[in-house]
Amino acid sequence: AEDVSGELKEILHTKADIDRRVVELAAEIDADYKDKDVLLVGVLKGAIMVMADLSRALSGQYPMDWMAVSSYGSGTKSSGVVRILKDLDTDLTGRDVLIVEDIIDSGLTLSWLLSNLKSRGANSVEICTLLRKPEALKVEIDVKYVGWDIPNEFVVGYGLDWAEQYRNLDCIAILSPHVYS
Ligand code: PRP
Ligand code: MN
Ligand code: MG
Repeated sequence: AEDVSGELKEILHTKADIDRRVVELAAEIDADYKDKDVLLVGVLKGAIMVMADLSRALSGQYPMDWMAVSSYGSGTKSSGVVRILKDLDTDLTGRDVLIVEDIIDSGLTLSWLLSNLKSRGANSVEICTLLRKPEALKVEIDVKYVGWDIPNEFVVGYGLDWAEQYRNLDCIAILSPHVYS
């Protein structure tokens, strides 16, 4: 496969940074949910890497399910139009749900998803996101677990894509504007 390093402007978090932070988040989650029957809900496709690493760093038993929703399409801007591409297989009635996300950008995807999942009768719905862009937020969202707040730039890697590319980078990097402009 081709070398993409010339397409990256800056590496924000290395694989080692991510491994360390995910283990810290998992320890918090284990402590907070130790007596609860939690369902992890991963948001496809971006959350695949966080889910894979976070779920293995947890010491308790955590069933997982997946939803696919899309807000970006193939561009770099969130449209606010959320489509369900794949729904959960699990009934949420009475469950404690922890949504696992790669990034909160405008917040439009998660704010929609939060109210959607709450309306299904869950006992609680909380969020764990690896990344958040405070300057890009368009709606207020209560987030229980955040890996890092990052600058308002387009980032890729560790599950995050631009036009379905770069998801398999093991680090999180700012994409060079020359790639998409
Ligand atoms: C990205 C990202 C989040 C969402 C955040 O997903 O993975 O799910 O956008 O954006 P927002 O806070 O502005 O709503 P995307 O829609 O690109 O789908 P993907 O996960 O399949 O890449
Ligand atoms: Mn996503
Ligand atoms: Mg995407």
